[in-house]
Amino acid sequence: MAETVTLTVNGNNYEFPILEGSCGEKAIDISQLRSQTGLITYDPGFTCTGSCSSKITFLDGEKGVLLYRGIPIEQLAEKSTFIETAYLLIYGELPTQDQLDEFHYHIIHHSMVHESIKNFYDGFPNNPHPMAVCSAVVGSLATFYQNELNVRDEHEVEITIHRLLAKLPTIAAYSYKKSIGQPLPYPDNQLDYTTNFLKMMFATPCEPYTVDPVAARALDVLLIIHADHEQNCSTSSVRLVGSSMSNLFASVSAGIYALWGPLHGGANQAVIEMLQRIYDDGGDVYKYVNRAKDPKDPFRLMGFGHRVYKNFDPRSRIIKKMADEVLKKSGVKEPLLEIASELEKIALQDDYFIEKKLYPNVDFYSGIIYKALNIPVNMFPLMFAMGRLPGWIAQWKELQEDKAFKIGRPRQLYVGPTMREYLPMNERG
Ligand code: CMC
Repeated sequence: MAETVTLTVNGNNYEFPILEGSCGEKAIDISQLRSQTGLITYDPGFTCTGSCSSKITFLDGEKGVLLYRGIPIEQLAEKSTFIETAYLLIYGELPTQDQLDEFHYHIIHHSMVHESIKNFYDGFPNNPHPMAVCSAVVGSLATFYQNELNVRDEHEVEITIHRLLAKLPTIAAYSYKKSIGQPLPYPDNQLDYTTNFLKMMFATPCEPYTVDPVAARALDVLLIIHADHEQNCSTSSVRLVGSSMSNLFASVSAGIYALWGPLHGGANQAVIEMLQRIYDDGGDVYKYVNRAKDPKDPFRLMGFGHRVYKNFDPRSRIIKKMADEVLKKSGVKEPLLEIASELEKIALQDDYFIEKKLYPNVDFYSGIIYKALNIPVNMFPLMFAMGRLPGWIAQWKELQEDKAFKIGRPRQLYVGPTMREYLPMNERG
């Protein structure tokens, strides 16, 4: 017999089904709660609320497990490429060689942006944050493909997926090139995804430029690691926008804005800025650990803690190892890596961090690698966005194809004034 829970309200019993996910997680189905009992649930931050069922990503925060379509992140980081992982997330299976070649072909053949998009970059003030620029430009893509935005048309959705994946690296590289006054390059469709991006970032028309394959692989792995993370803040935003049947460009544009904040994708930038501050301040790591523990001090150790991971973040382990390797290969001595390692060691032995289950998250070490790849600090969140794009697309697509599709519309507990009369101006105050 299916499991249920019984809720007693004013002496009346109501039964609600318990649903079970494929990896054993259980959820109470409260979709009939209000119609049966007149009650709603109250869960600020959605800490206990499942907003959808999904076949894309599973994570077990207690055991530090992360699976994309069932495949452990460690295996994908070691054996896959970002484009193959994107295919896996979006279509549900690893591609055959033919499927991969076709997918890759479509993506590289949409990498150019409309020439007039280049003019947009002239309209922003000096040194705008790349997340603001890229979200605006991604949203504006909808104006160039106005007749292909039907979210229920399989072909139109497919071509939009290719366009987004293909154009985001170009849009991202342009934001950097513009900020340093260099000409906006064209993509090179002979190159793979990440090599092409790095070339657009760092080559100039004046001299030949070869992308270091170690750097390209490191970036590719970072993109894989960031590619999806189930119903986080930006993904939920993409789904919520998409739930009004808004097109994918608009939904992803919203996702980029949601990712920007320092509590989410902006944390990688905040981590490097914090490590730099500690270094500039003489490198006294204890001082900052103590500040993070002080309830009167708003300072937090950026790159520590996670809503879901309460043991360790499997992504941070992969990245830590990679940071060591990249720096060893490049021969660069990075003092911030030493500060980061010391900070991690001290925090992991400290009762405050142990009790609150605060561990280094994906963003703690990623900035050190981006820095070694010469990516400017304010572009770190944008690297996260490039990585998360296939996840946003897969989640948006799954929502549109879901038989239970519904516009997202949370309830609230109103605690404002009860009904009162409008006061004319001369009777106020
Ligand atoms: N440093 C110091 N104390 C912390 C930290 C931290 N980094 N993170 C959480 N705490 C404390 C917090 O003060 C609270 O203490 P108390 O119970 O005494 O009030 C307790 O731990 C629980 O924190 P919370 O904010 O209620 O936990 P949350 O699940 O709502 O927040 C988080 C998760 C990631 C927003 C938070 O840990 C944080 O702000 N971390 C720093 C920012 C960061 O690294 N963000 C990147 C997250 S990973 C990338 C991604 O997926 O977006």
